[in-house]
Amino acid sequence: MATRKKIGLIGAGNIGGELARLFANKELGDVFLFDIPAKESFAKGKALDLEQNGAVLGYDCNIRGTSNWADLEGADVLVITAGVPRKPGQSRDDLVAINLPIIRDVANNAKKYCPDAFAIVISNPLDAMVFEYAKVTGCPKGKVAGMAGVLDSARFQAFLAREAGTSVKDVRAMVLGGHGDDMVPVLSMTTINGVPAQTLIAKDKLSAIVERTRKGGGEIVGLMGTSAYYAPASAAVSMAEAFLLDQKRLLPCAAHLDGQYGFKDMFIGVPAIIGGNGVEKIVEVPLTEEEKGMLDKSAKSVQAVVDVCKKS
Ligand code: NAD
Ligand code: LAC
Repeated sequence: MATRKKIGLIGAGNIGGELARLFANKELGDVFLFDIPAKESFAKGKALDLEQNGAVLGYDCNIRGTSNWADLEGADVLVITAGVPRKPGQSRDDLVAINLPIIRDVANNAKKYCPDAFAIVISNPLDAMVFEYAKVTGCPKGKVAGMAGVLDSARFQAFLAREAGTSVKDVRAMVLGGHGDDMVPVLSMTTINGVPAQTLIAKDKLSAIVERTRKGGGEIVGLMGTSAYYAPASAAVSMAEAFLLDQKRLLPCAAHLDGQYGFKDMFIGVPAIIGGNGVEKIVEVPLTEEEKGMLDKSAKSVQAVVDVCKKS
């Protein structure tokens, strides 16, 4: 008998709870909301609330809270938010000392209990945490990706739509590179329903939007005292849905490069096709000289954090 897919959410905090709500509302599978033993009751309470939410909204999937990895046995998808978010004034790279041992703990358990899962890492510093997860699990490189590009692109698209006075539905834009302040909004590929953004938005306004996008995470941390969670969760669910439903979506995500864009053995934000086999193809898009220079700069920033992890 066909059974529902099994979705493991590692971290039942701000993003984890929103992930659970979105996966359940889309009925993409049964949801296991996992956290550490000290937070198990919290996870169970969130899961119970979300099950009752299903009686209002009409979704039937099961939602369970747990701190027992055995409950995640054979999960089809893992979305990993385990770790601490930034506080005002912190960079994402400042989180490495706390989040590196956490991602290693998660990776060792994922290797044991759900080695075949498609893993979407969200924890920061994102690109280095994805690299570490892949290294520790030894999973096929296509079965792990980092969520950042879809979020950063969404921020970019939202700012562009407001400035141009158009619907966000019509904005097509991608942010590539590492999930840091030197991320690469690719202006040369940015259109509003096929109309180049440069013809609709003045150059100085575009530059301001690029900078606001790069600092978009920090802007929200400064306002809320913690990281964003609605858009990050939706971004990760779009990646997971592409895998679960074999949608062949072309999305910017931190994927493993083996020479593409001139980078080897690195996870960094690039356009990738996500389908039933995970990351199925890395798409190399034409970049201007300036954009390629920005990507190289961003890659150096990512490698610097990966090198810190390698020494830890
Ligand atoms: P949060 O503090 O609300 O939730 C994190 C949860 O992880 C907590 O409940 C904590 O108990 C749990 N946890 C800690 N160690 C664990 C372990 N070993 N196993 C399982 N769970 C564990 O934080 P949040 O706002 O949900 O953010 C989570 C992470 O996502 C942070 O690192 C944040 O910087 C990052 N983030 C990334 C992006 C992105 O674009 N990639 C966007 C927003 C936030
Ligand atoms: C943050 C997320 C966006 O740190 O990475 O705010």
